[in-house]
Amino acid sequence: MEKQVRPGIMIDYTGMMSSSQNPKGFKKEELLGLQNELDQAQASLLSRRNSGEIDFSKLLAPMITQLTEIIDYANCVAPKYDNFVVLGIGGSALGPLAVHQALNHYYYNELPPAKRGYHPRFYVMDNIDPVRFNELLQILDPRKTLFNVISKSGNTSETMAQFLIVRDILRRVCGDSYAEHIVVTTDKEKGNLLPIALKEGYQRFVIPAGIGGRFSELTPVGLLAAAICGIDVNQLLEGALRMDQWIRDSKGVLSNPAQLRAALAHLSWQKGKNISVFMPYADGLKTMADWYAQLWAESLGKRFDRQGRVVHVGQTPVKALGVTDQHSQVQLYAEGPDDKVITFVTVEKFNETREIPTDLELPEDIQFLGGRTLEELLLAEQKAAEYALTLAGRQHQKIILPTLDAYNVGQLLLLLEWETAYMGELLNINAFNQPGVEEGKNGTYGLMGRKGYEARKHDIEEYGKKRYSLNEIE
Ligand code: PA5
Repeated sequence: MEKQVRPGIMIDYTGMMSSSQNPKGFKKEELLGLQNELDQAQASLLSRRNSGEIDFSKLLAPMITQLTEIIDYANCVAPKYDNFVVLGIGGSALGPLAVHQALNHYYYNELPPAKRGYHPRFYVMDNIDPVRFNELLQILDPRKTLFNVISKSGNTSETMAQFLIVRDILRRVCGDSYAEHIVVTTDKEKGNLLPIALKEGYQRFVIPAGIGGRFSELTPVGLLAAAICGIDVNQLLEGALRMDQWIRDSKGVLSNPAQLRAALAHLSWQKGKNISVFMPYADGLKTMADWYAQLWAESLGKRFDRQGRVVHVGQTPVKALGVTDQHSQVQLYAEGPDDKVITFVTVEKFNETREIPTDLELPEDIQFLGGRTLEELLLAEQKAAEYALTLAGRQHQKIILPTLDAYNVGQLLLLLEWETAYMGELLNINAFNQPGVEEGKNGTYGLMGRKGYEARKHDIEEYGKKRYSLNEIE
């Protein structure tokens, strides 16, 4: 019997297109006019995928086979620990956090263990602010905590510093068994984390070669944290695979969701829309906006094109949250500079409902709310914002998730990854590197005294000598 395909994500791009309310919108012909470029992009992306170069799409099927190892380990450690802490930054932290927030209880850590299915509390330490770091350590008992050090390169100063502090504490508190409290997710062959993990006997998971951090959520980077915190990782991958297949199999901008979103982004970029706002109307997707922002910014913000010409391209991603930011940002989106394109993300059917009580004694002007639900109000606010932006001549589109579950989140991740890859092709840049970030990393090595980076240290110190600053007391 043929497997039934369940309904997944839908894209509504009415608000991008020309209409009587918004004549400045795009015409269908403009989208179709990009088809040749999109066909070339598709050919190039698929040939790189098929050539054995492992990428975010190619690894999905092998990941299914690796899931057993991840789930077995998760089932073994989850009941043993009260806390599970990810130490990582950028692509090694935002994905695990986004998926956790989307799919687990919003107040997961505050729930009693039974309500969490006896899965450990979950923390992501993605910065090195000493106050936050110390305060986290103050609330955790190291003997009841498992730390997941995630670093593709195994060289990132922030993550390695956190790791060294935690390792030191664990050695002092847990003695010989300290290594059981550390699980490492890193490259198979490279980096400084790997030899330490091998020597000290930490449990280890591999980030496949060729995967940049921001494309790595559906590798052990994200799957391990998800499995340990009770998320259905099979469904997450299932949804991702389905979206992947849709994007790989469909030809034509009007039927391929990644081509469509990339084409709309590219047309808007060409018309001066330098800002891409990602605005979910579901609190569970708030951190997904952070993940998207990194994906879009780090992949597409580039100085050189593929031929080495200076181009300085990239739309600035902005994170917003509906309805909250309707009372903060939307004024600017509607009436400020016309330099933004907005993606609303909505959920058709929420996992919870809450009715607003009716009270006929109350003023008539708020009685209309009685008997309606919070989700009706949320969706009404979204539709009203959408219409208001249309009237203001502002372009927007919508990604609709039938429900907020693992399958649909898997779909969303893959859609956004593919559209970023397509946009990279349309911009003729390499979406998979991040030379601008490396520069900062090298400067830090210099200032912190790493061998081989002395010249960088010298340059930064020279630059720092002459400053313009203001102080009340001279
Ligand atoms: O997307 C990326 O490649 C980056 O954001 C990295 O994930 C980030 O710099 C952390 O690097 P690493 O995982 O090597 O420690």
